Amino acid sequence: MPELSHLLSPLALGPVELPNRIVSTAHQTTLVHDHLPTEEFVAYHEARAAGGTGMIVLEATAVHESGRLTAHTLAGYEPEIVAGYQRVARAVQAYGTRLFVQLFHGGRELIADPPRPPAVAPSAIPSQRFHVEPRALRVEEIEEIVAGYAHSATLAAEGGLDGIELSAAHNYLFAQFFTPGVNLREDEWAAGPQLLVSVAEAVRQAAPGLALGVRFSADSEAAVAVAPELATLVDYVSIALGDSSTYRGSTGIVPPPPVEESAIASHAAPFRVGPPLIATSRIVDPAAAERLIAEGVADAVGMTRALITDPDLPRKAAEGVPELRCIGCNTCIAHYHAGIPIACAQNPRTGRELTWAPIRAGRRLRVAVVGGGPAGMAAAAEAHAAGHDVVLYESTIQLGGQIALAEAAPGHAELSASLLANYERLLDGVDVRLEAHVDEPPDADAVVLATGARPYVPDLPDFKGVLTAWSVLRGGRPDGKRVVIADWGGDASGLDAAEVLAANGYRVALAVGSAALGETLHAYQRNLYAARLYRAGIEVWHHLELASWDGGRATFSNIFAPELEAPMEADALVLALGREPVRELEIQGAVEAGDRLSPRSLEEAILEGSLAVRGLA
Ligand SMILES: Cc1cc2nc3c(=O)[nH]c(=O)nc-3n(C[C@H](O)[C@H](O)[C@H](O)COP(=O)(O)O)c2cc1C
Ligand code: SF4
Repeated sequence: MPELSHLLSPLALGPVELPNRIVSTAHQTTLVHDHLPTEEFVAYHEARAAGGTGMIVLEATAVHESGRLTAHTLAGYEPEIVAGYQRVARAVQAYGTRLFVQLFHGGRELIADPPRPPAVAPSAIPSQRFHVEPRALRVEEIEEIVAGYAHSATLAAEGGLDGIELSAAHNYLFAQFFTPGVNLREDEWAAGPQLLVSVAEAVRQAAPGLALGVRFSADSEAAVAVAPELATLVDYVSIALGDSSTYRGSTGIVPPPPVEESAIASHAAPFRVGPPLIATSRIVDPAAAERLIAEGVADAVGMTRALITDPDLPRKAAEGVPELRCIGCNTCIAHYHAGIPIACAQNPRTGRELTWAPIRAGRRLRVAVVGGGPAGMAAAAEAHAAGHDVVLYESTIQLGGQIALAEAAPGHAELSASLLANYERLLDGVDVRLEAHVDEPPDADAVVLATGARPYVPDLPDFKGVLTAWSVLRGGRPDGKRVVIADWGGDASGLDAAEVLAANGYRVALAVGSAALGETLHAYQRNLYAARLYRAGIEVWHHLELASWDGGRATFSNIFAPELEAPMEADALVLALGREPVRELEIQGAVEAGDRLSPRSLEEAILEGSLAVRGLA
């Protein structure tokens, strides 16, 4: 493990000293009820403090009723928030962690459930991504919002917090005010930093003992222009990426791979305006974080998903122990967008801190796990950690199942490699048997069946011998150069196969049988897939369901108007029509987990695999 002397050294942010430079930046947890923190919220942050996080910034917290982003946004302007803050502060500060809150107004960015409140903004310009059509704020409403920030800052101080961060990132209200083209006003609130400066001054006055920071999106030209104006008003500057208002920009808010690691680094220089700089986005490796600080790119780093995955990352980094690495799957932000409590596909304990303590086996059992995909690996790892003797049987030459297959695809290569590396460590000490076909019940006290799934191919003569997306990912290549892929839209395999074939010189048409391309993927992944597919010259056809194939022509029908047929000439057809469970092996008394129960995502596979062994005596 490399030396981490910069990362693990203290840092002063105005009146507050951080014990180290690892920051959990603001992120909505949906562990919020009635706009107030729940016990689960406290336990979630306490776990990250106990793991040694230097600074926690609580999630975007509304300063005014008009700025509540969702039904689960904390209401920083309600007096009841004080008791909530105090509970979190007591839990977190006991470990030396410094606790901040991000004060926030979303302006025209609103994800609220119906009946939706009216949206407000500097000017009445519709916003692309959430399809919001705001009205322009009146001057007295702007003054009310400034007062809302000051009032919320007073409550944060009463709540015992160490500091306040103003969110001027992601094209939320402050950025809407300082971004030309979004602010068309001609009054004293015309495009520029006035609102942000007024609020910074008001907050400082309302909470003079607290540290004050401001967060910008570093890929915003308008933010680059405004940042120097804040230099003397704040104790730190925090930078991230992204713009909530557009599909393309939103991807940057929580960028998944293949966005490069430490993606923020190349955007940091213009924000070195005086106060310490916290840089965040795709920093997952403590050694990379150390380098960024040592090289002066930033003074501290946000490692937000890294800490969502492994709350003990700072402690482990200090001890030279590898952390459980974030795989970049974006399940965490997908939960937020679905309005459900935060979870991590790689670590099922996240969001379940109150109820899911590590288990120790009361009795050492011989546990056999059949199937070495994510569910089986998770079951074996959990059983091994609990102290059981574990044998993991995998019928192919490698562990990983569908995730190992996905390593061939640009959209999944990093996820796959990180997940496999995590399990290589977690399975150290497990008896892993590859190319092991299990036909009989293994000799064990407990058996977990995690036999996974295979591609679904309709049992029709037309499709006999036709390649599937999985076979393309395994290295299979169609004859001829023109390929049409029939993609049902329920998983990424069709998109992955399209990219792999295009990169190998095929002319690819992708016929998508769902309402939207990549319908079940998280939006930020889908945005990146769409960009790559279009840039690779892949022809994308929408709303088409495969009807027949005669060896040279695929016929599709429109999913909404089935009488409308679309024939496509091609040398080869590739099928991505969903999956079916593999259930040939049945064992009385065995626990089942993952896709064998019905194919779903990585999140369910790892969760069910882990749960399968928690009930063992
Ligand atoms: C579930 C989730 C919710 C988020 N909510 C916020 C938020 O409330 N305010 C904010 O400024 N950034 C928010 N973010 C962005 C993170 O602060 C951070 O910038 C982003 O995750 C990229 O950093 P990372 O690569 O270290 O995860 C959120 C991220 C996630 C994963
Ligand atoms: S859900 Fe995925 S992206 Fe989010 S923290 Fe966990 S591993 Fe990382």
